[in-house]
This record gives sequence, structure tokens and C-alpha cells, in this order.
Amino acid sequence: MKKLTSEELRKIYLDFYKSKNHAVIGAASLIPENDPTVLFTTAGMHPLVPYLLGEKHPAGNRLTDVQICVRTGDIDEVGDASHCTFFEMLGRWSLGDYFKKDTIAWSYDFLLNYLEFDKDKFAVTVFAGDDDCPRDDESASYWKEQGISEDKIFFCNKKHNWWGPAGITGPCGPDTEMFIDTGKPKCSDDCSPACDCGKYLEIGNDVFMQYFKETDGTLSPLKQKNVDEGMGLERMLCILNGYKSVYETDLFSFAIEKLEELSGKKYGEDEDMTVAMRIIADHTRTATFLLGDIKAVSPSNVDQGYVLRRLIRRAMRYCRTLGIDDTALVELAKLYVKKYENAYPHIKDNEERIVSELEQERDKFAKTIEQGLKEFDKILAHLPEGMTVFPGKTAFRLYDTFGFPIEMTEEIVKEKGYSLDREGYDKAFQAHQELSKAGAEQKFKGGLADGGELTARLHSATHLMNAALKIVLNDNGIQQRGSNITAERLRFDFNFPRPLTEEEIKKVEDIVNEEIKKGSEVKLEEMSVAQAKEQGAVGVFDNKYGDVVKVYTIGISKEICGGPHCKNTSELGTFKIIKEQSSSAGVRRIKAVLEY
Ligand code: ALA
Repeated sequence: MKKLTSEELRKIYLDFYKSKNHAVIGAASLIPENDPTVLFTTAGMHPLVPYLLGEKHPAGNRLTDVQICVRTGDIDEVGDASHCTFFEMLGRWSLGDYFKKDTIAWSYDFLLNYLEFDKDKFAVTVFAGDDDCPRDDESASYWKEQGISEDKIFFCNKKHNWWGPAGITGPCGPDTEMFIDTGKPKCSDDCSPACDCGKYLEIGNDVFMQYFKETDGTLSPLKQKNVDEGMGLERMLCILNGYKSVYETDLFSFAIEKLEELSGKKYGEDEDMTVAMRIIADHTRTATFLLGDIKAVSPSNVDQGYVLRRLIRRAMRYCRTLGIDDTALVELAKLYVKKYENAYPHIKDNEERIVSELEQERDKFAKTIEQGLKEFDKILAHLPEGMTVFPGKTAFRLYDTFGFPIEMTEEIVKEKGYSLDREGYDKAFQAHQELSKAGAEQKFKGGLADGGELTARLHSATHLMNAALKIVLNDNGIQQRGSNITAERLRFDFNFPRPLTEEEIKKVEDIVNEEIKKGSEVKLEEMSVAQAKEQGAVGVFDNKYGDVVKVYTIGISKEICGGPHCKNTSELGTFKIIKEQSSSAGVRRIKAVLEY
């Protein structure tokens, strides 16, 4: 195997396919342009979807590139030896030009002759066939032509040998995957490259993109038969150089060294510290590329910005685990800019933005932590006397609402003479993860913002604003005419005959923020409509007449409403009206956000 640096490997790959008449194209943004159903560019083929579908690419029908990608589906796995949220993919494509024979011959040539992988350790999988698509004996025969023996060719089902589409719909097809046998013993008689026991490591994937998947799941043949090859740069470097993890490659080693220097701890010595270093290194690199992207992502509460915020805050939390200041992120980001400036000059161009956004996010996070500490004091004051264990569920709420690292909660709890119910915390955490995983999947399915919690908070803010409007405009006749809430913002329509003045808008904001500061508990009661009316609740009475209704009391507001809402107004951050405009005759529309 050739020992290569990242720069050498990129070059050797592109040169190889240049020699096979492929045009080298530049990397696209991490934010997909041609596929609204996913948040990030997750593979090299992603920016090429229109061309895989038959549109003519200006550079021709043989292309190659190195594409930056973000995949956050496995974020919880980051910290192990190989999972990264950002990676580079070496890729090449045939857009209706050559097909299986050349594809396999060139993959073989590149891996075995150029990179000098050991033929004895090389194994492949091909598609076993099903009702949608026949068994791929053709690919198997081409591997055999290259001298790969039958016992190294494994036929697997769709779960293993099918790739795409990247979003909900799009091009996809059977693939043939390439592996290196690590020499570890088989985990069972059935052990094969399809197994994830670690015996086989995937080094490449050739997808034969010849189908289009519709929203209802049906497959139809594409106009042209394409090839999509992908090889992960980090993973390849790791295997070629015989490293134990991607963090030893030249793409990470300097960042790990910096973290060792800052913390005075040695990478690889203590598992928790090693994992912390890996998470900080991975997340900061991803954040650097998102902040520095040509589409300039900023931390926010929605979509790509939300993922970015989580990555940054998670990395900052792990700085605490490591016992270092979270300014480390800025230091690392600068090192990453230097490392990548030749391959991706836009990162250098955006260095100032990367640094200032990281600093701003750090300040916001610090504020959140401050709020959390206040909440912490309140909780401690209310714990029953004689209680010595701090409830795990509460620790989880602090984590979930205020981004309070569990390590920090543990420290404070100990200082105050309690022990922490860590098991209870882990349980609550797991339950939440399952929920958020479902949420993330939903998000990828629908291309919609997840964040039920964020939406609930904005919903509570809507109630407060509704009440504040009546106060400021001195008009009890104000009624909700429409409401639309996403995880990012609230939109509220109400009857009022003229635009609001700047002063009025400011007053509404002030009142809502006052209520947030008070930290009022959100109270839910069930009562009859008559009782609700009597108590002055607002909301829709008509068709619920006679029924029991839910009434939410949130500080100055009392509304009949189905929910969901936050638990306490202190969760709401800072309320801000971003737009006030006419919606229709006699109806005004306000858009507002919560800033954290
Ligand atoms: N698009 C294929 C992959 O990501 C090559 O594995």
C-alpha cells in the first residue's frame, strides 16, 4: 500500500481519471442546490443529479472531483475511529457514457496498481438481484476478469448493494463495493463484507445509476445509464497509512496535537479524553466548512443553521470535559483554514467570518449557560429536604433546555453536596435520542424543520404576544386571524386597522421579554367552556361548546388551546419582532423569532 498524504491522494485520484479522459470539476457548496429534500451535500453525486437525469454537463460526460460532504445522521458515533460529520469524497462519473466493464477495470487499476492495495486482501460485493433489478452477474464477471477469485465476490441484497437516492426521490441503482480484509477472524460462518464486525473495511463504491426512485417508492429506468464512484478520502488515508483512526491522518493530527497542548492531556491515554478530543476536532472542522461555505451558513434554530449550532455547542461542551476554554474552537478553526486553504481557497477567503461567527456563538452559549445556572439554583432550592440525590430527569432537562453539559451538572451537584442520578439521566437521554432520531429521519424525509421543542416555544411566545398586543394597542377586540409556526419563526395574523408604530412594536417586545424573564410556569388546566369564559380565556369557543377544553395560562396570557407549549417561559430566549405588515384589509401580520 502506498503511504500518501491527503494532498497526494487527491492529486493521484484526479490524475488517474484525467488520464481516462475525465474532466476535473470543482467542489460544490455543502448546501445542495438541486435537491431541497436534504440539508447537506452528502455525496459527490449530489450536485450532479440533473446531469445524471440526462441534462448535458458543460464539461462533458466523464467527470471527476473531490467533493466536500456533510453527513450528520451518525453524529452520535463521532468519537469512534472512523465516523466524521464532514468528509471529502473522491468521485468520478460516467453520464451515460461507459458502464460496468470500464468502471470495474479502472477501480481495480486504481486501487490495486496505483494505491497498491494487497490483492489477497481485496474483496467485493455485488447486487444479488430482486424483483426490481436483476442479479448483477455482469459485474461479477468483470471482477473475475481482473483476476478476483469467486470466493472474494459476495452477492448481497438491496440493504447492502444499492445506493441512493440521496434525497427522497432521484437517481439510484445497484452498486458494487470494494473492501479490504483486515485479517481479523470471521465473526461467524456467514461473515462477509456486508457484515459490520470490522473484519472488512469498505474502500470504494461504484454505483450503477440507472433508475429513478419516485416519491411512492417505485423505480423507473433513467434515460441514460450512469456510473457514480465514491471513495472516502479520510478513510482511505487511514487504511493506506495503517492508522488506527482517521484522527491520525494529516487532516486531523495537527488539531489533536493542539488539543493535547491546550489540555496537557495525551491523546490515546484515557478513553473519555480521547473521545472528547475527537469530537472537538471533528465538529470544529465541520463548523469551519459550514461557516466558510460559499453559501455562508450561520448558526440558527432551523435547518442547516440548527445542525451547525448543535455541532458548535457540542464541541464547546466537550472542551469542558477536556478542561480547556472553548476559545479552542477558534484556534482550531484557524488551523483548519491553513490546512485546507490550497484545496479549498474559499475557506481562506471566509476566515474572518468563520472566526467572528464562532465567537458570537460562544457568547450566546455562555449566556444560555448563565440562564441555566439561575434555573439550577431554583431547582436546588426546591428539592425536598433530606434528598441527597439530584434527579437524573432534571439533569436531562438542564441539558436539553439550556445545553447544560452533564459533566458540568455533575460538578455543581457534587459541590452542593448531592450525588447525581446518572442512570436516570442516561435513560432520559436515550429516550430523547430515539425521539430526535425519529425527528431527524422525518426531517430528511420531508425536508422540513424538525425541532418540536423550538416550535412549542414559539407557540408559547405567540400566546404572550397575543396578550401583549391587546395591552399595547389598548384593544380587547384584537383576535387571532391566523397563525403559522415553524421551528424558526412565528407568524401571527390579527385584526387591526393600521400599521403598528415602531414604539408599539418595541413595547410589545418588551412586555413579552418581561414575561420571559419572570420565568413563569406554563399552566395547563382542563375546564368547561363556561369556566374558561368566566376566567377571561381567549380563543375559539364556538364549535367546542359544551366540551371540556384545555386552557393554557402563560404569565399574562390565558388561552383555550390544544398545545403543545414549553414548560416555563424562561426557556424562550429573547423575543424579537422581525416584520409587521399588512396581510389583507384590516388584518396585520407579524413575524417574530426567539433568539438564544
Ligand atoms: N454515491 C456513492 C456513495 O456515496 C458513491 O457511496
